[in-house]
Amino acid sequence: MPLARSELLAAARDARDRAYAPYSGFRVGAALATDDGEIVTGANVENASYPLAMCAERSALFAAVSRGARKFVALGLVGPPGVEIAPCGACRQSLAEFGSELIVVREGREDVTLGALLPDPFGSEMLREPAG
Ligand code: THU
Repeated sequence: MPLARSELLAAARDARDRAYAPYSGFRVGAALATDDGEIVTGANVENASYPLAMCAERSALFAAVSRGARKFVALGLVGPPGVEIAPCGACRQSLAEFGSELIVVREGREDVTLGALLPDPFGSEMLREPAG
């Protein structure tokens, strides 16, 4: 990967510092590297209405897409120190919209593709009108 893992994880840790997680206390940071070398970060944002919480991964993804990015090469992800974090199913599906080749980078873990974490995602090709 041309982009340094350490740079991506440092950006994710930095984003984690800005997490808003007063209810769970579980602070997460994500950093998405675009194909043109930009890094867009996100943190989890919780709400007094608990189900409205937004994960760090989707915060980063939606921020990046809103800025016009469409191609991503890597996602750095950190949870609370010492926690082996994994992206939730909803985030896997949201990220898969933009390609399953994305490399997921975590501290002390082997890098994996999003495709390995979410095989057979729902995709736009399935939205066609069924015949008959
Ligand atoms: N969370 C994330 O931001 N990303 C994950 O991969 C897992 C969970 C957040 C959602 C919620 O604010 C808190 O962590 C506890 O579930």
